[in-house]
Amino acid sequence: MLLENRVALVTGSANGMGRGIAHRFADEGCDLVINDLDQAACERVAGEIRARGRRALACKADITRGDEIEAMTAAAIREFGKIDILVNNAGGVPGTAGRGNSDNITEAEWDRVVDLNLKGPFLVTMSVLPHMKKSGYGKILFVSSMGAVSPCVSVLHYHTAKAGVLGLSTNLAFELAPQRIFVNAIVPGPVDTTFWDALVPAGPEREALFDAIAKKEVPLERVGRPDDIAGPALFLASGLSDYVTGQVVYAAGGQPLLAHGATFNIEAFLMNRMRK
Ligand SMILES: NC(=O)c1ccc[n+]([C@@H]2O[C@H](COP(=O)([O-])OP(=O)(O)OC[C@H]3O[C@@H](n4cnc5c(N)ncnc54)[C@H](O)[C@@H]3O)[C@@H](O)[C@H]2O)c1
Repeated sequence: MLLENRVALVTGSANGMGRGIAHRFADEGCDLVINDLDQAACERVAGEIRARGRRALACKADITRGDEIEAMTAAAIREFGKIDILVNNAGGVPGTAGRGNSDNITEAEWDRVVDLNLKGPFLVTMSVLPHMKKSGYGKILFVSSMGAVSPCVSVLHYHTAKAGVLGLSTNLAFELAPQRIFVNAIVPGPVDTTFWDALVPAGPEREALFDAIAKKEVPLERVGRPDDIAGPALFLASGLSDYVTGQVVYAAGGQPLLAHGATFNIEAFLMNRMRK
């Protein structure tokens, strides 16, 4: 097993990619700290991890709140004595309803979205790092977005924050390499998760959107599943990647490097939706 005797903290792991990553890690022998905004949801996923034969701690904490993060890290250290792997997964665009271009963005929205997607991962990393430094080992993953490097819709706060995460990852990798703390980033393409609830309700309309994106934007011609991200995350969290740091892995069905047909105008789709 690739993560035997390892302990991982995965932020935002009650749903979507975080949950998929937690499951995959558990199957490789890893114990988990399950974090999210809702304790009951954390307990549910912690139960799933225990059912897979591993230990799990459910930890409600808002990653934009330093005090809650400190309490989570302390609880994890009390429970497991260490944190080997940190996956900075929590993020997204809740409450934006697809807004965020130069015509409709506000300062308050900028602060809220950048706090969640850039400051939050920074705060969690700073909280966990002293423990990794003490043990002389660590694997840190950041989750960015295709919009940071190749946007197909204008979402200024979110994409800027996700680009910031790439800078944070590279700089930390440089700083921490001599201490055997590995830092890498994953750039997911479109993945079918609750992330999309903020943009289009689940149902036929979302399926039609995914279908159009898959056909026109993704060379592999399908939208991703959480498991598609969990595989690369496992590689970056395990000894398989012990000569890999400061890298960006695109888990995005061939985006953005392979050109693929006509571009689907997701922005026009969302704007039309908002007008309805
Ligand atoms: N789904 C996609 O298409 C996609 C594409 C590119 C990048 N991403 C990024 O991937 C990551 C995972 O997204 P997902 O698709 O699994 O989304 P998701 O909404 O299914 O899961 C994200 C989880 O983070 C939690 N969360 C939100 N704010 C939090 C906070 N302040 N503190 C703690 N937890 C919080 C949510 O409750 C949720 O459970 C996010 O960073 C997202 O921005 C998603």
